[in-house]
Amino acid sequence: MAVSSKKGDKSDILVPAHIGVIMDGNGRWAKKRLFPRKFGHREGAKTFKKIALAGKEMGVKYMTFYAFSTENWKRPKDEVDAIMKLFEDYLDDVSSFEKENIRLIFIGDRSRLSQNLRDKMKHAEDISRDFDSMTVILAVNYGGQSEICKSVREIAKMIKNDELDIDDIDEKLIEDNLYTRDIPPVDLIIRPSGEMRLSNFLIWQSAYAEYYFTDILWPDFKEKDLADAIKAFSDRSRRFGGI
Ligand code: FPP
Repeated sequence: MAVSSKKGDKSDILVPAHIGVIMDGNGRWAKKRLFPRKFGHREGAKTFKKIALAGKEMGVKYMTFYAFSTENWKRPKDEVDAIMKLFEDYLDDVSSFEKENIRLIFIGDRSRLSQNLRDKMKHAEDISRDFDSMTVILAVNYGGQSEICKSVREIAKMIKNDELDIDDIDEKLIEDNLYTRDIPPVDLIIRPSGEMRLSNFLIWQSAYAEYYFTDILWPDFKEKDLADAIKAFSDRSRRFGGI
């Protein structure tokens, strides 16, 4: 569900309530400059902060960023370690988000993450729990298919314990057992870097999302590019299966 922009100067723009961002192109950005790939992720982390704050300024209430997928473990160990270190460094300094009253949530399977990172994630969630200007969701060791399996397993347990009947299974019940249970569906998915696929990102939640693709590599993505994506969204006609 999208909400109208609060901005008087852009009153005709419909701002999506929830934007999902696939932060793609960090490796290519670094390669073009003959830097190691991890430099691209470091720039990508700076872009993440900038674009989250820009989203808040533009009136977006929820932004989910795909930071690490369940498939990304296949990358070389030094690249995976560098990305995990970026998460830790970022969580040591969430002050810019605190100042902006931004709530932080993590989705994904934490069991494979270091205890230190898990503790920092929990701490960041705890201190920002009541912040209400915007919610930033970071998807870390996240996969949409495994999230749906998790939901199905939880429902199956309830059926096994006679707490539920098979006929009780509906969309709402599946949603209630996803990581995103309290978060509205995705209105707009943005994928930079020229790739045009969803890559197992929020596959349930984006059933009726609009898609915006651009060739810009994520580290080069600017506030203006976010505004362009929102404008493109606002110009679309969403019918949700109706006419
Ligand atoms: C995809 O680009 C990017 C990733 C798998 C990692 C994304 C992580 C970050 C931007 C760091 C996030 C940090 C914080 C603090 C949220 P790619 O490496 O696949 O790019 P390529 O397709 O050009 O190789």
